[in-house]
Amino acid sequence: MQKQIITIAGGGSTYTPGIIQAVLNGQERLPVSEIRLYDIEASRNENMFLILQYMLEQQGFSSIKLVQTTNPEEAFTGTNFIFSQIRVGGLKMREKDEKIPLKHGLVGQETCGLGGFSYGLRSIGPLLELVGFIQKYAPEAWILNYTNPETIISEAVRRQFPGIRMINVCDMTIGIEDTLAKNYGYDRDNWVATYYGLNHFGWYTKIYDKSLKRDIMPELLEKLKVQEIKEEDPSWNRAFNMIRFMVQNFPDNLPNNYLEYYLYPDMYVDYADPNYTRANTVMDGREQKTQEMAGKIRNKEKEDVLDFYFGVHGLYIVDIATSLLNDEKSRFMLIVENKGSIPNLRSDAVVEVPAYVGATGVEAIALPEIGDFHKGLMEAQVAAEKLLVDAYFENSYQKALQAFTLNQSVPNATVAKKVLDEMISENKAFWPVLK
Ligand code: G6P
Ligand code: MN
Repeated sequence: MQKQIITIAGGGSTYTPGIIQAVLNGQERLPVSEIRLYDIEASRNENMFLILQYMLEQQGFSSIKLVQTTNPEEAFTGTNFIFSQIRVGGLKMREKDEKIPLKHGLVGQETCGLGGFSYGLRSIGPLLELVGFIQKYAPEAWILNYTNPETIISEAVRRQFPGIRMINVCDMTIGIEDTLAKNYGYDRDNWVATYYGLNHFGWYTKIYDKSLKRDIMPELLEKLKVQEIKEEDPSWNRAFNMIRFMVQNFPDNLPNNYLEYYLYPDMYVDYADPNYTRANTVMDGREQKTQEMAGKIRNKEKEDVLDFYFGVHGLYIVDIATSLLNDEKSRFMLIVENKGSIPNLRSDAVVEVPAYVGATGVEAIALPEIGDFHKGLMEAQVAAEKLLVDAYFENSYQKALQAFTLNQSVPNATVAKKVLDEMISENKAFWPVLK
């Protein structure tokens, strides 16, 4: 098989070592000749270059060429896959996305609620620019995008670059399935799951187990009602147990944990510390560790150098690339334009549904009609997200205010305007001018 070139856009991210580890583990399925790190922040990219160089040497992959660059032409010319994980404004701006709404008594979260909208308005421009570079230098390459907030990003890209070779994907469904399978004694490899929604906003309707030969969702729902979930990373325990709480109240479907921000914003606000949010945890954790790894390598230390998170992120990205390359037609939950997948939802909504991936790209499945509760929630959220993207393209303050007001985590237009105005002043360097 021809060896591939992979470019990581947002190379300096703390997720990069885990993703590259998955690439290295998958050399039989996805052989690579070259890995390129592309980042606008040269120093973070340099740290990651040192870490990856160390990993490649240690694991006997010195023949893989490693490149670091801040130049898009160098990053993309001749590349086959772009794994896109940029974080516009970095964790410092994530911290503001989380803290500003909390200050006003609203959910402060990276991708949900008004934090997600703030992040969305920051991300659209640079992401469109990135896609433009790739169109110019590597029009045949596939972009596997997991830059957040994904529905908003996908909506903007869909408008500007219809038909682009880009797959938008989130690891959360895999994370949920993995956690449920481990906690309740199943093997996820046997699962064929049916799920629908928007990104970070969806529900499972069925989980067929190929070895047990039945839909195990009813029994899973029963277990969820009574048995607490324990996660490997304890900082995720609360989020997963919110799934249990939601199932106790709405027992028909199994929700994505992120729905807590829309269904129970009050509980989240009570729980959250407005002075120390998830961004702080990540900066004091993964971010710190990454710098320490690079520091040890600079000091020529040899032992206990690597300490990074190896999660499902990398695994599914490699699985998708492999499925494209080898026409495997594997099934993933992907973020796509609806086009009838959910028959009673507008066709130009960006949804997250099961889809098969092969040589020709993505083929999403057709699902049954959905009920009014879920449809109503989704329609409001889709409209809010579309208004936000309109605000970006039209430089419209009015559309932004409508989007903020309609967001399901916001109780009234007064607070929507207060948060919007504060976010405008904090995002001057990033947001489009809204008039
Ligand atoms: C999950 C979500 C991602 C999100 C991440 C945040 O993986 O699917 O969309 O970015 O969680 O994790 P963090 O550890 O940075 O809070
Ligand atoms: Mn996600």
